[in-house]
Amino acid sequence: MLRSSSTRLLLALFAGISNVVTGAPLEHPDFDVAAALHDHGFQVEQYSDLVPLANTSSNRACEIACGALEQHYGADSVDRPTEAAYASFVGAYWSALQSDVHPSCVFKPAAPEAVSVLVLLSRLAQCPFAVKSGGHAAFAGASSIDGGITVSFQNLRGVALSADKKVASVQPGNTWGAVYAALEKDDVAVIGGRMRDIGVGGLTTGGGISFFSSLYGLACDNVVAYDVVSARGDIITASNTENPDLYWALRGGGNNFGIVVNFHLETIPLPGGKMWGGGLLYQGDASLKAAAKAFHATVDNIARQDHRAGMWLAMTAQNGTKIASVEQYYAEPDGGASPAWAAWDDMPAAPVADTRQNRTLVGYTTEVQQSNPDGLRELYYGLSFLGSAEVIADAQAAFFDEIGALDHVAGLLPVLACQAFTLPILAKMRRNGGNPLGLEGAAAAGRPVYVMQVAAWWRDRGDDAAVYAVASRVLTRIKAASVARGAASDYVYMNYASMFQDVIGSYGAENKARLKAVAARFDPAGVFQKLQPGYFKLDRAPVPDSGYFSR
Ligand SMILES: Cc1cc2nc3c(=O)[nH]c(=O)nc-3n(C[C@H](O)[C@H](O)[C@H](O)COP(=O)(O)OP(=O)(O)OC[C@H]3O[C@@H](n4cnc5c(N)ncnc54)[C@H](O)[C@@H]3O)c2cc1C
Ligand SMILES: *[C@@H]1O[C@H](CO)[C@@H](O)[C@H](O)[C@H]1NC(C)=O
Ligand SMILES: *[C@@H]1O[C@H](CO)[C@@H](O)[C@H](O)[C@H]1NC(C)=O
Ligand SMILES: *[C@@H]1O[C@H](CO)[C@@H](O)[C@H](O)[C@H]1NC(C)=O
Repeated sequence: MLRSSSTRLLLALFAGISNVVTGAPLEHPDFDVAAALHDHGFQVEQYSDLVPLANTSSNRACEIACGALEQHYGADSVDRPTEAAYASFVGAYWSALQSDVHPSCVFKPAAPEAVSVLVLLSRLAQCPFAVKSGGHAAFAGASSIDGGITVSFQNLRGVALSADKKVASVQPGNTWGAVYAALEKDDVAVIGGRMRDIGVGGLTTGGGISFFSSLYGLACDNVVAYDVVSARGDIITASNTENPDLYWALRGGGNNFGIVVNFHLETIPLPGGKMWGGGLLYQGDASLKAAAKAFHATVDNIARQDHRAGMWLAMTAQNGTKIASVEQYYAEPDGGASPAWAAWDDMPAAPVADTRQNRTLVGYTTEVQQSNPDGLRELYYGLSFLGSAEVIADAQAAFFDEIGALDHVAGLLPVLACQAFTLPILAKMRRNGGNPLGLEGAAAAGRPVYVMQVAAWWRDRGDDAAVYAVASRVLTRIKAASVARGAASDYVYMNYASMFQDVIGSYGAENKARLKAVAARFDPAGVFQKLQPGYFKLDRAPVPDSGYFSR
């Protein structure tokens, strides 16, 4: 009896999973890469060095592949280590950890078709690659690759608005500041990053919290369709009606399914780009404790009263004084009048600074940019828990206890930041068949999800391990507090995760299995797992089994 019912249960489970992804793998096991390159106008035979590389792998393979790309697309499309353009590219990442990485060459495709050739050539030569959009991922190898080919999208910067102004089609070389500037004259915007130079590519494939997310959801939940270069070099469309499984997977599944060469984004009305926002700065222990409560109350107010409002809370210490910086923003001018902010009237002391004012989206993202300089060593490291003011207070205690151990670190700025996936944000995740983040349970329980992040910048490589160890201890303590208070949530937000974290695993066993089934169909050879090894892969953290906090 027991046996047969559990067998039925298992069958039902597996049937559920396998039913989700329909269709045979899109590639035959003996797929001929050289022939596919030929179909894309690239004759392997014309590059005599390439022929012996086919189906093999060698140290020189990447150099030869780079040379073939250079011959085929012209010298301007490939930067080699001896060129000044290479040095300025490698030096232009937000995080110095990524600038430590040196590819064989940088390839700058000028058309989506050239991205297809890159993928196939990488397969032919077995030369690994990485793709860089805005270059704001914090850790080495996320959008850079030692000895391989780093693809720069700097020549794929199109922004096209549909005639009815409902959809903006945005190529992956864009940063959000450029996209907002292009759309402003048409009185529309899209759901994207809150800082000018963040890339469309990384933010959108990982989720994407915007200024307007309680009204519209995450960036990934506002993508109408993706044009994707698949493992076999085809450009395929993923939308609610075409390849819906791939569409689902791309809405938070990262770089595991293909290279997105065009994001078709639903627009939002934003007349004149006008909005409101700015920061309130509070000092001292009593203010920090009160800020934890006010944050929690505001998340509730936003859900019940005013979806136009949004906020983050960032905390640090300077010269022994604790500081809380509360960023408040609003989807229209004069947002200060919103009832969402009521809890901040009860703070024990007045703010020492207040920069809240009418703004334009472009101006605001540019100002936020000023406080995030390029070229320092950077850590983003995060977790989530179900909405709880007590866990924020526990997190503050853990953070301020532990960061004392980093007093000797030169150029250090450690920050504890808290943001909310409010109930309206969670509700928008149900759009278009849902996303793989695995947050339906929180939504059903009526609990917002708080995304907490330990961020730090510092100067010297020699301090890396100390910073990782402290951040790992802080997160381990916050995780324990969230469990103890009945507020545990497995989910790790990809865009704030460290290289030690298994993000896809954090989406839950069922979502992970479905994501793997999608990959098995669209990338049966595992090209985006093996030849694009950086960032959050389906089965592992970027640096697995590190011993540091993972999730
Ligand atoms: C100062 C700062 C502010 C930030 N603000 C926000 C914010 O407001 N909201 C938010 O949600 N996050 C924010 N983030 C986090 C941000 O979303 C991530 O760092 C994100 O990875 C950056 O995207 P990028 O394109 O700049 O990064 P990149 O380093 O270029 O790319 C990151 C990853 O995305 C993949 N990728 C890039 N383009 C493509 C593509 N076309 N197809 C497939 N995969 C691709 C790459 O493989 C790479 O692994 C911020 C980060 C920083 C440093
Ligand atoms: C590579 O392998 C494929 C499939 O096994 C084969 O058809 C092709 O001829 C090989 N290419 C070369 C250049 O050896
Ligand atoms: C912290 O102290 C240093 C040295 O006394 C001083 O130069 C700096 O301005 C102080 N910073 C702040 C924010 O008070
Ligand atoms: C903010 O903008 C609105 C709309 O443009 C305007 O009516 C209001 O006076 C502005 N407020 C301030 C403080 O400038």
